[in-house]
Amino acid sequence: IQDMEKSWDDELLQMVQSLPKEEAWVSGLSLYLYQGFWCSPLVIKPIISFQTHFPTFDSDVIIATFPKCGTTWLKALAFSTLYRNHFAMDEHPLLTFTPHQLVRFLEIDVYLKNPCPDLENICVYKPRVFATHVPYASLPTSMKDSHCKIVYICRNPMDMFISLWLFNDKLRQERELLSVDEAFEKFCHGICGFGPFFDHVLGYWKASQENPNKILFLKYEDIKEDISSRLKQLAMFLGVPFTEDEEKQGVVEEIAKICSFEKLKELEVNKKGTHVTGIPHKEFFRKGEVGDWSNYLTPSMVERLEKLIHEKMDNSGLTF
Ligand code: A3P
Repeated sequence: IQDMEKSWDDELLQMVQSLPKEEAWVSGLSLYLYQGFWCSPLVIKPIISFQTHFPTFDSDVIIATFPKCGTTWLKALAFSTLYRNHFAMDEHPLLTFTPHQLVRFLEIDVYLKNPCPDLENICVYKPRVFATHVPYASLPTSMKDSHCKIVYICRNPMDMFISLWLFNDKLRQERELLSVDEAFEKFCHGICGFGPFFDHVLGYWKASQENPNKILFLKYEDIKEDISSRLKQLAMFLGVPFTEDEEKQGVVEEIAKICSFEKLKELEVNKKGTHVTGIPHKEFFRKGEVGDWSNYLTPSMVERLEKLIHEKMDNSGLTF
């Protein structure tokens, strides 16, 4: 963090110092409220670079997610669907690269250390695909105004919360992690990276309702329930529908299989090494199930979160 701050100019330092600040879930780390969402000071400069400099192409595909809602899975699915005619299944790039290396985050990877990265050479295949956790309202204007396609995935907040808490536990090193109750309290107040969760989800939900040709809104649980239908929906939305021949040849099932939790988790490339953020690749693959929250949340926590879901979601037409 100190190294990062050295690269900040006075104006940025002053701006960050003026932002509301809260303790993060891990001791000694802070979150700042930038443009209405909480973020680590490490990503504020990259977010500003992304917002200011990213030139969106109409052909771009953006994977937008709240952390721990299925980003890794959606990256693998979108990559495999879009570029399925570029390689044979036994030479699939997912066998040698992680989903996060194939579809890179803008603010926490591409712009992390470089305010003007060489975007030309980042995406091997075209159209370009990038990912972001930035809320809809804070996306660069060029992205909102262009004809690019955005695919969003959300997840039941109870599973998302537990996934995030356990993820923090893996990354905390020597630092203390808040107890599940304390982290839950923060989560209910919207305090976690890119939170409030409900604002993030509703921002993309409303935008997808207003512009369904531009934003596809998916749910983790729906993909789990019927991956073939969701893959066909994704392919159609991206303008590369599966042909009858492809369906007969089982291409949809092959994509589902190579992107499955079981397959990806066991690949050497996902077991070793670290992401550019320093996060070990293996930490992106934990259990991959629906409903694991029931092993962690007490009945009173569930009751509180259900109440919050009603409060936030009623009248939106979106349910979990
Ligand atoms: P759990 O912690 O509940 O297991 P993200 O990719 O947004 O960081 O989300 C991580 C969550 O997605 C983790 O959930 C992880 O195990 C799960 N996940 C990762 N790859 C997956 C896949 N191919 N299929 C289903 N779930 C996956």
